[in-house]
Amino acid sequence: MLAVVGAMEEEIDLLAQAMSVAERHVRAGVEVVSGAFRGVDLVVARCGIGKVNATICTQMLIDHYPLDKMIFSGVAGGLLPNMRVGDLVVASHVIQYDVDLTAFGRRHGELPDKGRTVESCPALVQLAADAYDAVFDGGAGDPNLMLGTVVSGDRFVQDPDTLRWLQREFSALATEMEGAAVGYTCDLNGIPFVVIRGLSDTAGSEAAADFSVNLSAVCRNCFRLLEQLIPMASQDPAAAKTRMAGAG
Ligand code: ADE
Repeated sequence: MLAVVGAMEEEIDLLAQAMSVAERHVRAGVEVVSGAFRGVDLVVARCGIGKVNATICTQMLIDHYPLDKMIFSGVAGGLLPNMRVGDLVVASHVIQYDVDLTAFGRRHGELPDKGRTVESCPALVQLAADAYDAVFDGGAGDPNLMLGTVVSGDRFVQDPDTLRWLQREFSALATEMEGAAVGYTCDLNGIPFVVIRGLSDTAGSEAAADFSVNLSAVCRNCFRLLEQLIPMASQDPAAAKTRMAGAG
Protein backbone atom coordinates (compact mmCIF):
# COMPACT_ATOMS: atom_id res chain seq x y z
CA MET A 1 0.00 0.00 0.00
CA LEU A 2 1.18 3.52 -0.85
CA ALA A 3 1.02 6.49 1.51
CA VAL A 4 0.99 10.09 0.29
CA VAL A 5 1.73 12.70 2.96
CA GLY A 6 1.60 16.49 2.90
CA ALA A 7 2.06 19.01 5.69
CA MET A 8 -0.87 21.32 4.92
CA GLU A 9 -4.41 20.86 3.68
CA GLU A 10 -3.61 22.50 0.33
CA GLU A 11 -0.82 19.95 -0.21
CA ILE A 12 -3.09 16.90 -0.02
CA ASP A 13 -6.57 18.23 -0.78
CA LEU A 14 -6.63 17.73 -4.55
CA LEU A 15 -5.63 14.09 -4.13
CA ALA A 16 -7.99 13.47 -1.21
CA GLN A 17 -10.86 14.91 -3.26
CA ALA A 18 -10.01 12.73 -6.25
CA MET A 19 -9.96 9.51 -4.20
CA SER A 20 -12.80 7.18 -3.52
CA VAL A 21 -12.73 7.37 0.26
CA ALA A 22 -13.25 4.22 2.29
CA GLU A 23 -12.37 5.49 5.78
CA ARG A 24 -11.34 8.60 7.68
CA HIS A 25 -9.38 8.47 10.93
CA VAL A 26 -7.53 10.77 13.26
CA ARG A 27 -4.53 8.96 14.74
CA ALA A 28 -1.86 10.65 16.87
CA GLY A 29 -3.53 13.92 15.88
CA VAL A 30 -3.05 13.20 12.18
CA GLU A 31 -5.98 13.22 9.72
CA VAL A 32 -5.81 10.10 7.56
CA VAL A 33 -7.97 9.24 4.57
CA SER A 34 -7.77 5.74 3.14
CA GLY A 35 -9.31 4.51 -0.08
CA ALA A 36 -8.35 4.18 -3.72
CA PHE A 37 -7.10 6.44 -6.50
CA ARG A 38 -7.34 5.09 -10.06
CA GLY A 39 -7.51 1.57 -8.66
CA VAL A 40 -4.51 2.00 -6.35
CA ASP A 41 -4.97 1.42 -2.61
CA LEU A 42 -3.87 4.58 -0.95
CA VAL A 43 -3.64 6.29 2.39
CA VAL A 44 -3.37 10.09 2.40
CA ALA A 45 -2.35 12.03 5.51
CA ARG A 46 -1.89 15.64 6.54
CA CYS A 47 1.02 15.57 8.97
CA GLY A 48 1.14 19.22 10.00
CA ILE A 49 4.12 21.54 9.74
CA GLY A 50 7.62 20.68 10.90
CA LYS A 51 9.92 17.72 11.47
CA VAL A 52 8.34 16.50 14.72
CA ASN A 53 4.87 16.34 13.16
CA ALA A 54 6.28 14.68 10.07
CA THR A 55 8.09 12.05 12.12
CA ILE A 56 5.06 11.23 14.26
CA CYS A 57 2.85 10.94 11.20
CA THR A 58 5.30 8.76 9.28
CA GLN A 59 5.84 6.32 12.15
CA MET A 60 2.10 6.21 12.88
CA LEU A 61 1.30 5.37 9.23
CA ILE A 62 3.98 2.68 9.12
CA ASP A 63 2.64 1.15 12.36
CA HIS A 64 -1.05 1.20 11.37
CA TYR A 65 -1.13 0.55 7.62
CA PRO A 66 0.52 -2.13 5.46
CA LEU A 67 2.73 0.37 3.65
CA ASP A 68 5.35 -0.59 1.13
CA LYS A 69 6.23 2.93 -0.02
CA MET A 70 5.69 6.57 0.83
CA ILE A 71 5.57 9.79 -1.18
CA PHE A 72 5.78 13.20 0.48
CA SER A 73 4.33 15.98 -1.65
CA GLY A 74 4.27 19.68 -0.91
CA VAL A 75 5.88 23.06 -1.46
CA ALA A 76 9.38 24.34 -0.76
CA GLY A 77 11.62 27.36 -1.13
CA GLY A 78 13.99 27.16 -4.11
CA LEU A 79 17.67 27.91 -3.46
CA LEU A 80 19.17 28.44 -6.91
CA PRO A 81 19.07 31.84 -8.65
CA ASN A 82 17.51 30.55 -11.89
CA MET A 83 14.62 28.73 -10.23
CA ARG A 84 11.02 29.78 -10.85
CA VAL A 85 7.95 29.51 -8.68
CA GLY A 86 6.08 26.38 -9.77
CA ASP A 87 9.19 24.39 -10.69
CA LEU A 88 9.29 20.85 -9.35
CA VAL A 89 12.09 19.30 -7.31
CA VAL A 90 12.39 15.58 -6.68
CA ALA A 91 14.67 14.83 -3.74
CA SER A 92 17.33 12.27 -4.56
CA HIS A 93 18.64 12.89 -1.04
CA VAL A 94 17.37 14.65 2.08
CA ILE A 95 19.28 16.25 4.96
CA GLN A 96 18.17 17.68 8.33
CA TYR A 97 20.11 20.92 8.01
CA ASP A 98 19.40 22.07 11.58
CA VAL A 99 21.05 19.08 13.27
CA ASP A 100 24.15 20.76 14.71
CA LEU A 101 26.86 18.71 16.43
CA THR A 102 29.62 20.91 15.05
CA ALA A 103 30.76 21.40 18.68
CA PHE A 104 31.90 17.75 18.46
CA GLY A 105 33.64 18.19 15.13
CA ARG A 106 30.78 16.89 13.00
CA ARG A 107 29.46 18.53 9.87
CA HIS A 108 26.18 20.41 9.91
CA GLY A 109 23.36 17.89 9.51
CA GLU A 110 25.48 14.94 10.59
CA LEU A 111 24.31 12.48 13.24
CA PRO A 112 26.64 9.96 14.91
CA ASP A 113 26.46 6.57 13.12
CA LYS A 114 24.03 7.96 10.53
CA GLY A 115 25.98 10.38 8.36
CA ARG A 116 24.02 13.39 7.20
CA THR A 117 22.26 12.29 4.04
CA VAL A 118 19.31 9.94 3.57
CA GLU A 119 18.80 8.67 0.03
CA SER A 120 15.34 8.49 -1.51
CA CYS A 121 14.38 5.23 -3.21
CA PRO A 122 16.17 5.48 -6.59
CA ALA A 123 13.33 3.67 -8.37
CA LEU A 124 10.77 6.16 -7.03
CA VAL A 125 13.01 9.08 -8.03
CA GLN A 126 13.26 7.64 -11.55
CA LEU A 127 9.50 7.10 -11.71
CA ALA A 128 8.86 10.68 -10.56
CA ALA A 129 11.08 11.92 -13.40
CA ASP A 130 9.27 9.62 -15.86
CA ALA A 131 5.93 10.90 -14.57
CA TYR A 132 7.09 14.49 -15.11
CA ASP A 133 8.06 13.64 -18.71
CA ALA A 134 4.64 12.09 -19.30
CA VAL A 135 2.72 15.08 -17.92
CA PHE A 136 4.71 18.12 -19.02
CA ASP A 137 6.07 18.71 -22.51
CA GLY A 138 8.20 21.80 -21.88
CA GLY A 139 5.55 24.17 -23.19
CA ALA A 140 5.32 27.76 -22.00
CA GLY A 141 4.11 27.78 -18.42
CA ASP A 142 5.23 24.22 -17.73
CA PRO A 143 7.43 23.84 -14.66
CA ASN A 144 11.03 22.71 -14.87
CA LEU A 145 12.11 19.55 -13.07
CA MET A 146 15.23 19.26 -10.95
CA LEU A 147 16.59 16.24 -9.10
CA GLY A 148 18.93 16.68 -6.15
CA THR A 149 19.26 17.34 -2.45
CA VAL A 150 16.40 18.82 -0.44
CA VAL A 151 17.12 20.11 3.07
CA SER A 152 14.69 20.28 5.99
CA GLY A 153 14.67 22.29 9.19
CA ASP A 154 12.15 23.71 11.63
CA ARG A 155 12.29 27.15 10.15
CA PHE A 156 10.59 29.00 7.30
CA VAL A 157 13.58 30.43 5.45
CA GLN A 158 13.15 34.04 4.42
CA ASP A 159 16.60 35.49 4.12
CA PRO A 160 19.29 35.54 1.45
CA ASP A 161 22.16 34.65 3.80
CA THR A 162 20.50 31.46 5.02
CA LEU A 163 19.48 30.40 1.54
CA ARG A 164 23.05 30.90 0.29
CA TRP A 165 24.41 28.93 3.23
CA LEU A 166 21.96 26.05 2.62
CA GLN A 167 22.89 25.97 -1.06
CA ARG A 168 26.64 25.99 -0.46
CA GLU A 169 26.88 23.85 2.70
CA PHE A 170 24.56 21.08 1.46
CA SER A 171 24.52 21.54 -2.35
CA ALA A 172 20.76 21.80 -1.82
CA LEU A 173 18.14 22.70 -4.40
CA ALA A 174 15.28 23.46 -2.02
CA THR A 175 14.45 23.96 1.63
CA GLU A 176 11.34 22.86 3.50
CA MET A 177 10.28 21.62 6.93
CA GLU A 178 9.36 17.91 6.75
CA GLY A 179 11.04 15.87 4.00
CA ALA A 180 14.18 14.76 5.83
CA ALA A 181 12.13 13.70 8.87
CA VAL A 182 9.91 11.56 6.65
CA GLY A 183 12.98 10.17 4.89
CA TYR A 184 14.83 9.42 8.11
CA THR A 185 11.82 7.63 9.61
CA CYS A 186 11.15 5.65 6.42
CA ASP A 187 14.82 4.69 6.23
CA LEU A 188 14.84 3.37 9.80
CA ASN A 189 11.74 1.31 8.99
CA GLY A 190 12.91 0.08 5.58
CA ILE A 191 10.15 1.85 3.67
CA PRO A 192 11.09 3.23 0.23
CA PHE A 193 10.22 6.91 -0.05
CA VAL A 194 10.53 9.95 -2.27
CA VAL A 195 9.96 13.65 -1.56
CA ILE A 196 8.42 15.84 -4.27
CA ARG A 197 8.30 19.59 -3.88
CA GLY A 198 6.88 22.42 -5.93
CA LEU A 199 8.57 25.79 -5.39
CA SER A 200 6.24 28.31 -3.77
CA ASP A 201 9.01 30.87 -3.24
CA THR A 202 12.74 31.32 -3.51
CA ALA A 203 13.45 31.62 0.25
CA GLY A 204 14.50 35.27 -0.07
CA SER A 205 13.17 38.38 1.64
CA GLU A 206 9.68 38.07 0.05
CA ALA A 207 9.30 34.35 0.75
CA ALA A 208 6.31 34.45 3.11
CA ALA A 209 4.28 36.69 0.81
CA ASP A 210 5.21 34.59 -2.23
CA PHE A 211 4.31 31.41 -0.36
CA SER A 212 0.80 32.65 0.42
CA VAL A 213 0.15 33.84 -3.12
CA ASN A 214 1.52 30.76 -4.88
CA LEU A 215 0.58 27.87 -2.59
CA SER A 216 -2.55 26.66 -4.40
CA ALA A 217 -1.20 26.93 -7.94
CA VAL A 218 2.02 25.16 -7.04
CA CYS A 219 0.13 22.36 -5.28
CA ARG A 220 -1.70 21.84 -8.59
CA ASN A 221 1.65 21.13 -10.31
CA CYS A 222 2.47 18.59 -7.59
CA PHE A 223 -0.95 16.98 -8.01
CA ARG A 224 -0.52 16.66 -11.78
CA LEU A 225 2.74 14.80 -11.14
CA LEU A 226 1.15 12.63 -8.45
CA GLU A 227 -1.78 11.67 -10.71
CA GLN A 228 0.72 10.14 -13.11
CA LEU A 229 3.18 8.82 -10.54
CA ILE A 230 0.79 6.97 -8.23
CA PRO A 231 -0.32 4.32 -10.75
CA MET A 232 3.27 3.98 -12.02
CA ALA A 233 4.68 3.54 -8.51
CA SER A 234 2.06 0.99 -7.58
CA GLN A 235 3.02 -1.20 -10.57
CA ASP A 236 6.80 -0.98 -10.31
CA PRO A 237 8.33 -3.89 -8.38
CA ALA A 238 11.61 -2.02 -7.76
CA ALA A 239 9.68 0.69 -5.94
CA ALA A 240 7.70 -1.77 -3.85
CA LYS A 241 10.27 -3.60 -1.80
CA THR A 242 8.93 -4.21 1.66
CA ARG A 243 12.22 -3.94 3.53
CA MET A 244 15.41 -2.31 2.36
CA ALA A 245 18.78 -3.71 3.36
CA GLY A 246 19.87 -2.85 6.88
CA ALA A 247 16.45 -1.77 8.10
CA GLY A 248 15.26 -2.89 11.48
N1 ADE B 1 8.17 25.77 2.38
C1 ADE B 1 7.91 26.60 1.34
N2 ADE B 1 8.77 27.62 1.31
C2 ADE B 1 9.60 27.46 2.36
C3 ADE B 1 10.68 28.21 2.87
N3 ADE B 1 11.08 29.34 2.29
N4 ADE B 1 11.30 27.76 3.98
C4 ADE B 1 10.88 26.62 4.58
N5 ADE B 1 9.85 25.88 4.15
C5 ADE B 1 9.22 26.29 3.04
